[in-house]
Amino acid sequence: MPTICPMTPADFPTLAAWMVDLPLFQRYNLTVERLIADFEAGHSRGDWLITADADSPACGFAWAMPNGTFGRSPYLRLIGVRTDVTSRGIGAALLTEIERMAAEKSNDLFLLVSDFNEDAQRFYRRQGYTQIGAIPDYVVPGVAELVFRKRLSR
Ligand SMILES: CC(C)(COP(=O)(O)OP(=O)(O)OC[C@H]1O[C@@H](n2cnc3c(N)ncnc32)[C@H](O)[C@@H]1OP(=O)(O)O)[C@@H](O)C(=O)NCCC(=O)NCCS
Repeated sequence: MPTICPMTPADFPTLAAWMVDLPLFQRYNLTVERLIADFEAGHSRGDWLITADADSPACGFAWAMPNGTFGRSPYLRLIGVRTDVTSRGIGAALLTEIERMAAEKSNDLFLLVSDFNEDAQRFYRRQGYTQIGAIPDYVVPGVAELVFRKRLSR
C-alpha cells in the first residue's frame, strides 16, 4: 500500500514533471511552470494537498479545496497517479484520505470529471460517487464536466 503524506513545496517539480505527460492534462494545455504555480497558490491558500509514495516518492497526488463547492462543501479539484503505477489502488488510497479530511467538516464531497474520461468515472463510481449533473462547455468547448457527489457519514 502507498504511504500518504502532506505535499510539500519540494514535491511540486517532481509531480509537475510527470503530470504534463498524462494525456488528460495535455488536453487541458497544462505546462510544468503552470502546474508548479498552481500548486504554490493552492499551498499558500491552505488547500488540502497530499501525495502518495509507492515505489518512488510523489507518484500520485490529490488536491481538494475545503470550501470549494458553493463556498460550503469540499471540492476535489484534481487527482492523478503516474501512468506506470496506475490500477494498484494508489488513487483509491488518495481519495479515501481526502474523504476522511472532508468528513471532519462536511457531509458531502463534490468533484467534476470530463464526459470523455470514462475510466475516471468508473473509478469514482466504484468509490461511491453518484453523478448529479453536467455542465456543458465549461472548461473546454464541446466537453461537458460531469458533477459527482459522495455523501459522507459523520
Ligand atoms: C483516475 C486515477 C487517479 C486513478 O488512480 P489509480 O491509482 O489508477 O486508481 P485505482 O488503482 O485505485 O483504481 C483503478 C481505476 O482507476 C481508473 N483508471 C486507471 N487508469 C486510468 C487512467 N489512465 N485514466 C483514468 N482512469 C484510470 C480505472 O477506473 C481503474 O479501474 P480498472 O482497473 O477497473 O480499469 C488515475 O488513473 C489517473 O491519474 N488518471 C489520469 C488523470 C485523471 O483522469 N484524473 C481524474 C480526473 S481529474
